[in-house]
Amino acid sequence: MSSVAVESQKRRTFAIISHPDAGKTTVTEKLLLYAGAIHLAGSVKARKNSRHAISDWMKMEQERGISVTSSVLQFGYKQAALNLLDTPGHADFSEDTYRTLAAVDSAIMLIDHAKGVEARTLRLFEVCRMRKLPVVTFMNKLDREGRDPLDLLDDVSKSLNIEVAPLNWPIGNGRDFKGVIDIRSQIVHLFAADSHGSTIAKVTTLPFVESEKLIGTRLFDETSEQLELLAAAGTAYNRDSFMAGEVSPVFWGSALTNFGVGPLLDFIAAHAAPPAARIAEDGNVINPNDERFSGFIFKIQANMNPRHRDRIAFLRVVSGRFSRGMETVLGRSGDKLKLAKPHSFMAQERSIVDEAWPGDIVGLYDSGQLRIGDTLCEGAQFSFSGIPRFAPEYFAQLVVRDAMKRKAVDSGLSQLSHEGVIQLFYNSISRQEPYLGAVGQLQFEVLKERLKNEYGADVAYRSSPYRWVRWIGGEPEGLKWLKARRDYAIMQDRNGRPVLLAESQFSINYALENAPGLVLYDIEPL
Ligand code: G4P
Repeated sequence: MSSVAVESQKRRTFAIISHPDAGKTTVTEKLLLYAGAIHLAGSVKARKNSRHAISDWMKMEQERGISVTSSVLQFGYKQAALNLLDTPGHADFSEDTYRTLAAVDSAIMLIDHAKGVEARTLRLFEVCRMRKLPVVTFMNKLDREGRDPLDLLDDVSKSLNIEVAPLNWPIGNGRDFKGVIDIRSQIVHLFAADSHGSTIAKVTTLPFVESEKLIGTRLFDETSEQLELLAAAGTAYNRDSFMAGEVSPVFWGSALTNFGVGPLLDFIAAHAAPPAARIAEDGNVINPNDERFSGFIFKIQANMNPRHRDRIAFLRVVSGRFSRGMETVLGRSGDKLKLAKPHSFMAQERSIVDEAWPGDIVGLYDSGQLRIGDTLCEGAQFSFSGIPRFAPEYFAQLVVRDAMKRKAVDSGLSQLSHEGVIQLFYNSISRQEPYLGAVGQLQFEVLKERLKNEYGADVAYRSSPYRWVRWIGGEPEGLKWLKARRDYAIMQDRNGRPVLLAESQFSINYALENAPGLVLYDIEPL
């Protein structure tokens, strides 16, 4: 096997999708703890809370404690090299969160077992489905009271329209939580309620048939019954269906008390998807084992020293070997680019990287040349199909306080929209006064700060009546119907494609029901 094939097979590049508060930070930290990448849990969490940031960070980001180093975590576990990409949640939720899913090969879907599938999980899962990503489910917080596990499983399966196949099963929950049973081996992993959260917990194991005394007859009978039901009516795990994104294997645990994280990590390292092949715009399939290096930019983080305007572009390696200082070609323009100071993201810190392999994420200093979705490769120029943009959920119009700054603002908007900070929608007649769209409020704040720091322009926002945007497709008659009515706002996206801005879901539905042949997309068609 070539060294590219060997290294590529070891890579597991994944993200955790969840609703805020389901325990993403806690699980992330415990994965690092179990992999031996950190020695005492608490450090990831501390970062989240301390609002501490690298010295040259934009002030606002400092205040919020977002940091580049935590957006990608690389760590080894057994034979595997894991790349865990952060999907920002809470207030920092933005298009980046969606785009990250374009750069991973599998995802862990984290669910609070008392709450089931929540809104954000659903949205993120839809993006995974679009990419046919294999998704592993982790039901968290078993140390707290929660829902009946069979009902919960049914709810997940129905609301996400996916088959679920438990690989282990909980014994009780809340105060009664006794542990999990590995379905295949029928071995019980006993939970010790007093296990300390900051170090690896010792787990006692024994065959389920011998566990009645320890877990009590009631729970033993209840669990036996559930296992019988599962065996009779449940979905069996099958690797091919998992890899195709059709079946999600399910694990249960309590990240806070370190319980159940070990089996999850073992599964990810052994069975999560290795780097996938990707399709280029011309239809060619680029295999990770190809000797020729290629990769694409999925995120640009302006790193915000106003004097230097340095940005870091995050490159996902798709094929071949990446090496420091290599000459590459930019797919979009054919420009040559020497990748002089690439960074990797080892568990806690950023460091210069000499080589990287398919599945790895490399940080590149960018002086404004790179855009989201850009391809970098060796040899002849080509491009991967782009990263789709997602329908924004917040809208505003820009008010430029100083008319002299109009030009600066225009060029800023153009650059920053290519970096994925904001989406722009233009009135078909004039390109002035575009509507700005974002999937998270933070994007507006970032835009404002950056226009001020980098373009010297003070801007404010005027609220917009629009709440929804859809890309317009289908028959030309549909678009004609919309245009003929005065109450529909038809605008253009940055590529001149028609979009519909609407004030209500009702008006979108009305158009869909009445405009002949109209199709509306909530993700930009590629
Ligand atoms: P997030 O990144 O998904 O937003 O979640 P995070 O890990 O910050 O967890 C949210 C809250 O849930 C935290 O409590 C955390 O301690 C708790 N939590 C996470 N996993 C478990 C678990 O397995 N069991 C229980 N009982 N709780 C869990 P908090 O009170 O908001 O924060 P903190 O005071 O603990 O830091």
